[in-house]
Amino acid sequence: MKNGMIKIRNARMKYPGGDGLDHVNLEVAGGEFVYLVGSTGAGKSTVLKLIYMEELPDAGYVVVDGANSSEISRREIPFVRRKLGIIFQDFRLFEDRNIFENVAFVLRVTGARPRDIKKKTLRALAEVGLSHKSRKMASDLSGGEQQRAAIARAIVNDPLILLADEPTANLDPKTSVEILNILDRANARGTAVLMATHNYELVNYSSKRVVSIKNGRTLP
Ligand SMILES: Nc1ncnc2c1ncn2[C@@H]1O[C@H](COP(=O)(O)OP(=O)(O)OP(=O)(O)O)[C@@H](O)[C@H]1O
Ligand SMILES: [Mg+2]
Repeated sequence: MKNGMIKIRNARMKYPGGDGLDHVNLEVAGGEFVYLVGSTGAGKSTVLKLIYMEELPDAGYVVVDGANSSEISRREIPFVRRKLGIIFQDFRLFEDRNIFENVAFVLRVTGARPRDIKKKTLRALAEVGLSHKSRKMASDLSGGEQQRAAIARAIVNDPLILLADEPTANLDPKTSVEILNILDRANARGTAVLMATHNYELVNYSSKRVVSIKNGRTLP
């Protein structure tokens, strides 16, 4: 098992206006599954932004599979992101493309062979139970279906690390369990998973490691 897949040390990141992160420490080892739990506004999505390097820390540093935020150049950031699967809180699907194309997109931009693109995309859609909706436009799906499409896109390339931002928000309990099972299966295939959630109940009943965040600070 590779250690230190994600390492955040004494990170601070302030938005204009003064909100953001004060002091964050977080470590995720290769193949690990960790929950990042905190109430609304605590800073969970911002921590994920530091990991996919949409924001860089003002102090401290972030290391993702060996790439250090304090040394990285803007040009190198897309290569770090290719190792990640990201389920955004707001899905970020292309509304004007069908579900197959939304999921296949990552593979197309990395120049995968058409045969592999088809195979992997169909497999990911089957994994989330959306095979029958592959030709539908993203805007014509229900919220829960869009959430599952976003998950299929995030896992299609068997990423080293999966970042999941509230992937069960707005879903009924049964669908939430299905989503957690999908994340578990990705984890069993070797993907490290960091899942942000404000669902304390879910976390309390889980045997997985939990990191808590409050007012921009991870708790020791
Ligand atoms: N783009 C932004 N510009 C300015 N302030 C922001 C921005 N994004 C987030 N914030 C502020 O930073 C703090 C942390 O926000 P963040 O989105 O990380 O919280 P969160 O834990 O993900 O919350 P939620 O559970 O509601 O998604 C909040 O006070 C929020 O208002
Ligand atoms: Mg959030």
